[in-house]
Amino acid sequence: MKYPAHTASSGTRDRRSGSPPSVDPAHATFRLRPSAGICTSQVKEPRLPPPAGRLAHSNESPAPPGERGDPCLAPTPVGRPRPLASAPVLFSYAFVNLKPGVGKTTSAVWLAHALHESGIPPLLVDSDPASSALRWSELAGGFPFPVIALPVGDVHRRVNDFLGHRQAVVFDAPQLEDHAHIARSIMRYASEWIVPVTPAPIELDRMAPIGGEMGDMQSLRATPARAAVLLNRTNRPDATRTGPDADAREALTERGFDVLSTHIPRLDLYAQSFGSPIEVKTSAYMDLADELIKRQDKA
Ligand SMILES: Nc1ncnc2c1ncn2[C@@H]1O[C@H](COP(=O)(O)OP(=O)(O)OP(=O)(O)O)[C@@H](O)[C@H]1O
Ligand SMILES: [Mg+2]
Repeated sequence: MKYPAHTASSGTRDRRSGSPPSVDPAHATFRLRPSAGICTSQVKEPRLPPPAGRLAHSNESPAPPGERGDPCLAPTPVGRPRPLASAPVLFSYAFVNLKPGVGKTTSAVWLAHALHESGIPPLLVDSDPASSALRWSELAGGFPFPVIALPVGDVHRRVNDFLGHRQAVVFDAPQLEDHAHIARSIMRYASEWIVPVTPAPIELDRMAPIGGEMGDMQSLRATPARAAVLLNRTNRPDATRTGPDADAREALTERGFDVLSTHIPRLDLYAQSFGSPIEVKTSAYMDLADELIKRQDKA
């Protein structure tokens, strides 16, 4: 497998030797037993202060201790022990769509890096049984934040067990059409649903059933989630007044979808980034993180 040289290291890899970083035990998180399909990548990260006191936008309280019987939820401490009580998260984002291949994994991984870069420590939850995000982090020699795999239908009950002092959680959800129970569980938890859509007629045509699904899920929540469309793989890097990108934005808005101002252009930078460390600073995902944070502040 070939990985591009242009996606510069975020500093977690020893670039001189090309080998993954050794883990400083003082900064190491815990390693979960991989036997039951809920696993985590190792991560090197600084100790974090507790989050400033704002309430979580989760609908669910942490799973009671009785639900922690799963062997994968009983971590073997490598460095520090896992905090018993989970801290509230400020931001929770789920990339969802009915269909595969729309950019959920790419967007989840890049957004998590942008949040990290913005000083909001994220947890990245890979809930797709394909485990692409987890594999990406492994190939990249680790991300500068934790990544866990939770491809289960009760992720909304389990995820708080893993939050620690994270201030954001980003979900890579599997496609609803094949793994509805997992994707719906994520939608119960996340306060913001983001639907990546390519500005092309075939993708726009699929949006009606997504709207129906989102309506059904809102009815199961104590407080409504915000929902937005992210135009991904746009034809032009900048916003246009005419052409397919502008047409898609207009058509989606007319159908009642909230379309984010930020769009993600179709670029090799993103197409080739799987498996590599990410340099997010100058990318559109920094704009996306800014916009999402401001949206929440306004809400
Ligand atoms: N902005 C972009 N520009 C160019 N290529 C992109 C962009 N976003 C995603 N891609 C590419 O599109 C393909 C699908 O993306 P990705 O794997 O993130 O989608 P997905 O929704 O997670 O798919 P799946 O449902 O199969 O897990 C990948 O090859 C990815 O590299
Ligand atoms: Mg994916």
